[in-house]
Amino acid sequence: MTPELEQPLDRLNRNDRPPTEADLRALLEVQGDDLRELYARADEVRRRAVGDEVHLRGIIEFSNYCHRRCDYCGIRAGSPGVKRYRMAPDEIVAQAVQARDWGFGTVVLQSGEDPWFTTDRVCDLLEKIKAEAGLAVTLSIGERPADDYSRFRAAGCDRYLLRFETSDRELFAKIHPDDDYDGRLACLDQIRAAGIQVGSGFMIGLPFSGLDVLARDLLFATQLDLDMIGCGPFIAHPDTPLGGHPAWADREIYFKAIALLRLMNPLSHIPATTAFDALCPNGRDLVLTRGGNVFMPNITPVAYRALYQLYPNKPCVDEDGGACARCIVRRLERLKRPPARGRGDSVKRGKGNG
Ligand code: 5AD
Ligand code: FES
Repeated sequence: MTPELEQPLDRLNRNDRPPTEADLRALLEVQGDDLRELYARADEVRRRAVGDEVHLRGIIEFSNYCHRRCDYCGIRAGSPGVKRYRMAPDEIVAQAVQARDWGFGTVVLQSGEDPWFTTDRVCDLLEKIKAEAGLAVTLSIGERPADDYSRFRAAGCDRYLLRFETSDRELFAKIHPDDDYDGRLACLDQIRAAGIQVGSGFMIGLPFSGLDVLARDLLFATQLDLDMIGCGPFIAHPDTPLGGHPAWADREIYFKAIALLRLMNPLSHIPATTAFDALCPNGRDLVLTRGGNVFMPNITPVAYRALYQLYPNKPCVDEDGGACARCIVRRLERLKRPPARGRGDSVKRGKGNG
C-alpha cells in the first residue's frame, strides 16, 4: 500500500483515533495495486473475524403493495405499470417450510409498506412460521408504529432490516417525499430496544451524492454498531423520478464501499445484496471476496418475482427457489466458501442479543 494510504487504513479500526471523512475519501479513490491490497485486506479481516462460512437467508418478497413514494423505488405507490400482488399468509408459511427443506437457517420476509399486513396479521404469520418451519425470521417491511416491534419480537421476529438509505438529511428529504429522516432513525432505536437484531445500511451512488456523502454514510453505518450492514448499488429505475441517472463512473466504488465497511466493522454480517448482480453478473460473488459473508437467495414463488422490481435488471426472475438454492451451492463451491449451517445470528453481542 502506498505510504500515504497506510495511515488512513490503519485508523479504520482504531478506537483511539477513528477514521475521518478525509481518510475514507482518500481510500475510496484508490486504484491499481492499492485497490487490490484494499480488497485483500478486507477479505482477510472477514476471514479472521467471521470465518469462511457464508450464511444463507432465503428471501420471500411477499407483497409489492406500498403506500410510500420513495423516488428511487420501482414499486412506489401510484407507479403506473406495476401489477400488484400479495401472497396469502398460508402461501408464505408454505414457502418458509420449503426454505427449511432447502437447508436455509433464516427466512427473510420482505414487502413494500403494505397496510393490509396489520400488526396482528404479521404476528400471526411469525408465529406460524416459527411453529411450522422453526427458522430464524427477519422482517423487512418498512417503518412501523413504535409498539409493533416488541410485539413482533414476542411473536418470534429475530431480526429486522430497515435501511437508513442515506445519512444525509437533505438528500433523505429530497428523495423521500413522504418520509422523515428522524422518524427512520427512531425506528432503528425502537427495533434495537425491542431486543431484535438490527440490520441497516444505505444505497451506494444515489443521485445528488458524491464521495463526501459516501464517506459519511460509511462512518454513520459504523457508528450505528449494526448486527448486519446491508448496502447495494443504486440502480436507476426508468419509471421513477430518479430514472435515467447514470451509474458511478468508477464501477469499483460499490465494492470499495463494502471492503471499507468490513475493515471498520469486522464482526458485522455483511450481505452480498441482490442489486450487486444487477450491476454485473457476478457482482454478488465479488462482494463475498471483498468483505461479504452473507448471501440472500431469492425464494419468492416464480409467479411473483418479476412483479417485485425495485430496480431493473434484477437477477433470477425466471428461476424458482429450488433453482436459486442449487445455484448458490455452485457459486459457493467455486469461491471455496462453505455454506453455514444453523441460524447465523449476530456474532457481535455474544449471547446477549440472540
Ligand atoms: N436501486 C437500488 N436499491 C434500491 N432499493 C429500492 N430501490 C432501489 C433502487 N432503485 C433498496 C432500498 C430499500 C431496499 C429494500 O431496496 O435501499 O431499502
Ligand atoms: Fe415502497 Fe420504496 S416505495 S419502499
